Amino acid sequence: MKQHPIKPKQAEAKKTEPKRTNPKTLCWMNGNQCNPEDATLSIFDHGVLYGDGVFEGIRFYHHKPLLIDDHIERLFTSANSIDIPIPYSATELIDVMKSLSEQASFSHGYIRLVVTRGVGAIGLNPIGCGPANVFIIVTELNMMPAQALQHGINTIIATTKRISPSALDPKIKSLNYLNNILAKQEANKANVDEAILLNDQNNLAEAVAENVFIVHRGTLITPPCDDGALNGITRKTILRLAQESGISCNISSISEATLLAAEEVFLTGTGAELIPVRSINGKLIPHCPGPVFSTLQTLYVDFIEQQC
Ligand SMILES: Cc1ncc(COP(=O)(O)O)c(C=O)c1O
Repeated sequence: MKQHPIKPKQAEAKKTEPKRTNPKTLCWMNGNQCNPEDATLSIFDHGVLYGDGVFEGIRFYHHKPLLIDDHIERLFTSANSIDIPIPYSATELIDVMKSLSEQASFSHGYIRLVVTRGVGAIGLNPIGCGPANVFIIVTELNMMPAQALQHGINTIIATTKRISPSALDPKIKSLNYLNNILAKQEANKANVDEAILLNDQNNLAEAVAENVFIVHRGTLITPPCDDGALNGITRKTILRLAQESGISCNISSISEATLLAAEEVFLTGTGAELIPVRSINGKLIPHCPGPVFSTLQTLYVDFIEQQC
């Protein structure tokens, strides 16, 4: 059979060299723990071809996953809503993640749990695909430099709008992040740390991979999921901690003008935890880190210590 080997040009060959996996990284794939190099996926998997799949990002502290039941519930809800049968039970996946976190040579880290549609024909029809591939990566995570966490991050409002919830339910945590990646590229070009996305009504949706909270006239506010926000697990925890500690809080739409007039702005996410925002489009936020942020950050750290 005729073959067509093509060698990448020298400069490109350098670029395409596989990135070395952190030797401490642990992997599990389709029922077995394996070496990272052996965790491979077919190029015919619809997760690869179309971003057809779902995932979760989970943190562990002191070798113990945080809020693992919430993450597993969201994973199964996401998978159900796009009809991907997960070939493992919630308990089986939880047990694997607990065991990997215990084995990790680092006490605090990150778990990525991914479910893809599986192998299918080249067309995007999901019928006939499967079984789903399931894999887990346990790795170290350094989201933001400590400096940024202390003094806040600079952000822009991206010109890329968040995909309308009527086009794609933001509660489905799918593998398809191109919308968010485009916004991140805008942030990179603007030389700032992160991008904030508005929806097509010009109301606040979320950040690239974090929910957004503001403090406006003394009230803590975050947008509803219907405005294009993921139902973040950290968001839910922060809302609960705020309520329990008597901070006035609200889930309601936030216009661009209200966002820019906020006394405090901060981001929440499993990976990000809580990050104060210093500026938006070059405009300084009056309090960074502000008193509400600082109270909630202390409560969140205490919450992690209680849970893990
Ligand atoms: C688009 C998006 N929004 C918000 C979040 C924050 O959600 P959580 O707190 O559940 O990590 C994430 C994190 O995964 C995300 O990807």
